[in-house]
Amino acid sequence: MRLTVIDHPLVTHKLTVLRDENTPSPVFRQLVEELIMLLAYESTRGIALKPHAINTPVCPTTGAKIASPRPIVVPILRAGLGMLEGMTRLMPTAEVGFLGLKRNEETLEAVTYANRLPDDLTDRQCFVLDPMLATGHTLISSIDYLFERGAKDVTAICILAAPEGLKTLEEHIGTRGDVKIIVAAVDEKLNDKGYIVPGLGDAGDRLYGVVD
Ligand code: URA
Repeated sequence: MRLTVIDHPLVTHKLTVLRDENTPSPVFRQLVEELIMLLAYESTRGIALKPHAINTPVCPTTGAKIASPRPIVVPILRAGLGMLEGMTRLMPTAEVGFLGLKRNEETLEAVTYANRLPDDLTDRQCFVLDPMLATGHTLISSIDYLFERGAKDVTAICILAAPEGLKTLEEHIGTRGDVKIIVAAVDEKLNDKGYIVPGLGDAGDRLYGVVD
């Protein structure tokens, strides 16, 4: 597994506003969208291209376009939805599938409650969107699921990660090179409720309000 922390002043600035408890939902949503575009730029560096012949107004030439099968973007419901718009704006030809995973608040294990993905993901490059890499259980379940269906590689894009979650993920994934994790920052720790510290609180609640 390869971890990249995007160290960029714009990312740091936006992240600081995002963390602030006084930032209201509409601004929070806008910032998540802007942040994902900055993270997505780096995340998509390994996208497969195929040569594509065109005519410019001056002469014929050969460029390159995104290859088939198209990459698939998989937001993890519900908080990952906040990252979808920014990602598809950067990569409008990508397909989108959905995975609904929530954590059991007692065991902190991931439980799948929705799945809208093709059964066959053979040779697909997959981009998982999940803002908070906390215990790592949600990402492990998602990554396993995508590989079971034939994914070629998986890139997880997260806003924040906890060291505990990264360690769990690394133990599970090992040294395989087809899993990349892109984050805006690695925070200090998880608290006893499984929240990232200092973190930004519950990403889903801050994006969409509290649902009981
Ligand atoms: N999920 C969140 O939304 N926030 C955290 O801090 C951890 C998991």
